[in-house]
Amino acid sequence: MEAVYAVTIAFFAVGLLRMGNPKTANSGILWAGIAMAFSIAITFLMPGLSNILLIIPAIMIGALVGWVAADKVAVVNMPQMVAIYNGMGAGAASSIAAIELLGPGRGLFEMSIAAAGAVIGNVSIAGSMIAFLKLQGWIRERPITFPAQQPLNAAILVISIVFVSLYLGNFSSSISVTDALALFFLFSLVYGVMMAIPIGGADMPVLISLFNAMTGLAVSLDGYLLSSFAMLVAGIFVGAAGIILTIAMARAMNRSIHAVLFGVFGKKLEEGRQVMGSIKITTAEDAAILIGYSKLVGIVPGFGMAAAQAQFRVRELADMLQSRGIKVIFGIHPVAGRMPGHMNVLLAEAGIKYEYLVDLEDANRLFPDVDVALVIGANDVVNPAARVPGSALYGMPILDVDRAKNVIVLKRGTGRGFAGIENDLFYSARTKMLYGDAQDTLSKLIQELKKI
Ligand code: TAP
Repeated sequence: MEAVYAVTIAFFAVGLLRMGNPKTANSGILWAGIAMAFSIAITFLMPGLSNILLIIPAIMIGALVGWVAADKVAVVNMPQMVAIYNGMGAGAASSIAAIELLGPGRGLFEMSIAAAGAVIGNVSIAGSMIAFLKLQGWIRERPITFPAQQPLNAAILVISIVFVSLYLGNFSSSISVTDALALFFLFSLVYGVMMAIPIGGADMPVLISLFNAMTGLAVSLDGYLLSSFAMLVAGIFVGAAGIILTIAMARAMNRSIHAVLFGVFGKKLEEGRQVMGSIKITTAEDAAILIGYSKLVGIVPGFGMAAAQAQFRVRELADMLQSRGIKVIFGIHPVAGRMPGHMNVLLAEAGIKYEYLVDLEDANRLFPDVDVALVIGANDVVNPAARVPGSALYGMPILDVDRAKNVIVLKRGTGRGFAGIENDLFYSARTKMLYGDAQDTLSKLIQELKKI
């Protein structure tokens, strides 16, 4: 049986490798999906499996809900979906740990492993649910902070560990051991809530990724307890991928993990900072003339393009420019949008060839030669405030569109970016604002270009 699981693990590994490249990502998901279906199927061949009549309907209900939800979810709501699915995984991991803690025949070492799995799983499920509620807008998204918050949180975690120690050591005189176990679960869940509420803004996706890594760890601890090689390795895959993603996202935003967990995003706001220059509004007609007579156009998509679902119009525009011999590149910022690879996914969906996508460093080398930088619903990722010490964005690598010869920004109005700070780019002498929903504005731009 272990040999069969080893084959499925190899499939998972191939899937993960292929997901690392946009060209092979679709097939990577297929490899991993087949591996998962195969793992579930062979589990039914394990000796001693009981409650099959409960397991099959549970799998069917879960698969149906997951299928429908994943099919319906808009790409901009993907972080919420990841949060809630991660919470489900963490809940399953802590349920297994609970069964192991309550069951007979385990030594202190194994019970301690189960307790570790339970605490990590509980923190992850409670925190993921708070992250889901925040991103969905069902509770206040802004960070909730109060004095002595961190010492209080630490105390809650210590109390939960004291309760599980009472249970494991069986040496409580004032409360029953089962009450001690229940209180351990309660306090570790409360700790998960408390860990998530002070976090908000751009740090939320990083937090979700961290919870994802914690779920992986809880699953691998359960895998160890159940002597399940497949579960152990699957948990390690999830944990490692979650940690790598957490670090990559934090690095791309120039935030330390410590700052994500314990520093409130945007705390050091740019009080008193004066933005120089004035806003200049342009029309689709004038913008089309500027773009239509360019040699090199640099398109920078951001969250607004995703919100407007404007990727198909973007493709139409790029095709039209290329057919006129105008060179088009797409400057892709690693944290543009709301999830890793967000822009790549949308542009690929619209059929834009991967070879036109340029990463941050290469795009920044090209911007001084770009005739028009067309910023479509991007804000923070092109905000030169990131170069100003003291700004909430300070240190975040940005796309240097302000170094292009001309800049046209497509957005609906004067709304700020995710970080909530003013963008100097919009006031630059080289910049013109083209207001409106990105999809409508691009349609107008395309119509005007046709006239030239
Ligand atoms: P944002 O800074 O969020 O700015 C998006 C802009 O799009 C807004 O200023 C908004 O202005 C405009 N917009 C919204 N809807 C629009 C529509 N229908 N049509 C046209 N414009 C529209 O986006 P960004 O530059 O992509 O930056 C991403 C942010 O998310 C960064 O702060 C990043 O750190 C954070 N973040 C990203 C990730 C990942 S992994 N991607 C993870 C964590 C955090 P108006 O309201 O005026 O239209």
